[in-house]
Amino acid sequence: MSGIVGYIGKHSAQSILLDCLKKLDYRGYDSAGIAVSDMKTIGLRKEKGRVEDLEASLQLEPIQPGCLGIGHTRWASHGMPTVENSHPLCDEEERFYVVHNGIIENYQQLKKFLIAEGHHFQTDTDTEVIPHLLAHYDTGNFEETVRIVIPQLKGAFALAIMAKDHPNQIIAISYDNPLIIGFGHGEAYLSSDIPALLPYTKEIYPIKNGEMAILTQTNVEVKTLSGEKILPKKTAVHWSHDELSLQDYDHYMLKEIMEQPEAIKRTLKNRLAAGDVIIPEVEEFFKERQLTDIEKITIVGSGTSHHSGMIGKKILETMLDIPVEAAISSEFSCEHGHLNEKHLVIVMSQSGETADTISALKNAKKFGAPVIAITNYRKSTLGRKSDCLIYTHAGPELAVAATKAYTTQITALILLTIVLTKKLNGPGEDKIPVLLDALHSLADDVEKCLVMTQDAIDQFAQVTNDQGHLFLIGRGLDYVLALEGALKLQEVAYLHADAYAAGEMKHGTMALITPGVPVIALATQPHLRDKAINNIKEVKARDAYVVGVTTTGDDEVSAVVDEVLYIPEAHPFLMPILAAIPLQLLAYYAGTVRGYNVDRPRNLAKSLTVE
Ligand code: F6R
Repeated sequence: MSGIVGYIGKHSAQSILLDCLKKLDYRGYDSAGIAVSDMKTIGLRKEKGRVEDLEASLQLEPIQPGCLGIGHTRWASHGMPTVENSHPLCDEEERFYVVHNGIIENYQQLKKFLIAEGHHFQTDTDTEVIPHLLAHYDTGNFEETVRIVIPQLKGAFALAIMAKDHPNQIIAISYDNPLIIGFGHGEAYLSSDIPALLPYTKEIYPIKNGEMAILTQTNVEVKTLSGEKILPKKTAVHWSHDELSLQDYDHYMLKEIMEQPEAIKRTLKNRLAAGDVIIPEVEEFFKERQLTDIEKITIVGSGTSHHSGMIGKKILETMLDIPVEAAISSEFSCEHGHLNEKHLVIVMSQSGETADTISALKNAKKFGAPVIAITNYRKSTLGRKSDCLIYTHAGPELAVAATKAYTTQITALILLTIVLTKKLNGPGEDKIPVLLDALHSLADDVEKCLVMTQDAIDQFAQVTNDQGHLFLIGRGLDYVLALEGALKLQEVAYLHADAYAAGEMKHGTMALITPGVPVIALATQPHLRDKAINNIKEVKARDAYVVGVTTTGDDEVSAVVDEVLYIPEAHPFLMPILAAIPLQLLAYYAGTVRGYNVDRPRNLAKSLTVE
């Protein structure tokens, strides 16, 4: 899991590579490195830490200038985050330089073979086998050598390769990991993700699985691994500078929290018609597959996307007459029950590149299960490989913690629920009109939540600063939301936060409640409210400090808690979206008050392309 970049053209490669790497560092920030060619020699520099550390090192001691280079920002998977293990990696004779995102599953066998052949390894990485293999099989023809080596690699990978003896070329390969070509005038770029390319070009081509691109100053050629030429279909990207810049915010996380009303409007746009929901992609998919009979639904995702899936499960089950499950992507591959053509699988992913979720999708398709993807990247692997794509339109999410991804995913799932309820004659059909009405005011309600809770949450975050533990409790949809709130607090505030089904506390966890320990009690579901109040009283009886999150004017909840946060009352299905706002804000303020870089939490990366 890492970010890779490449540049070939007429400008200084170093500054372009560094600039692009900074925009990719959400993909990993354990170390960074670049290799730059001046057409005679290749200069290499790698540093532990972030791209800024690499930049500082290059300022102190520059490497040779050149107009061709590759770069890498690393999330350590194989080997500690040391300078040695950083990319670019090369062979002993420094002939081939490689940056890699992904995993080489059979690297140990390859390494054994290469060692027996006399190669010496310097790192603990899986990647190092690649430059050694290239050197070992070097035929003198760069392209041909790459073609001999790639089929020997097992796993998922995106690679950019430079060769000392072929100083006017970069070869790029994508195999189940994203790599995008950016086209300029007399120059070409490579990047793991689109935003890094946007200051330079809006014309892009995502390299497809098993394709190889040969970049020179004058040309970009795309071929299959067997050498057949492909005409790359370029697409234009329409993201604006505002969407990608911080504007007046200190952090992307806060900017993205604040963008949620607009993001939700985009998710709903053109789908929420008067009195109906239309998702043309789903219509087409049902027609094509002639889907009339679905016996089971599983929603698969990781982390926050799994939490959206859990919310979706509860909502779908209320409306349909068939079993619905929510599965963690990394578990789904081993325990997926009986997949078949009547088992609809919905894969959730902001990035569309999460390896665990891609593997779940492949598994589902292997058994003939129809697959719908809900993702924020149309051109992502999940977007391309699914049978039907529902695009969330959240806009670029650059903070590592998912915020608008979560609320737009749930919004999209609710739209899909309405469509499926009608198509499958679900018993919840009569509940649709009320839900439709509520969806029309969802974006405004989210806006109100931001206004109503921001200051109080900021203050509460200051109070929790000296706390080592925090608990979140809730029932039904509130319980799932508690899980999401806890994840956010762990992730960006490094606070031990745990979520419990409110009724479960008395079965063990209550032992952890000591006087003054903060508990956030979610009570937004009208049919579970009375029981939730009982559970709040139980923790209050142990002298916990309870902050209740409930709907405006609920005096019964406010009477039993220490502090209350009111949010607007809406349809129960929409409450996990509205109540997510104060929890996201709490994680943000708790992280910033502790002095952490909330956009780049330690040990994490945004898009996890290794299983
Ligand atoms: C948490 C978070 C992660 C992601 C997870 C899946 O804030 O961001 O838990 O939700 O890594 O990522 P996607 O949605 O890109 O598949």
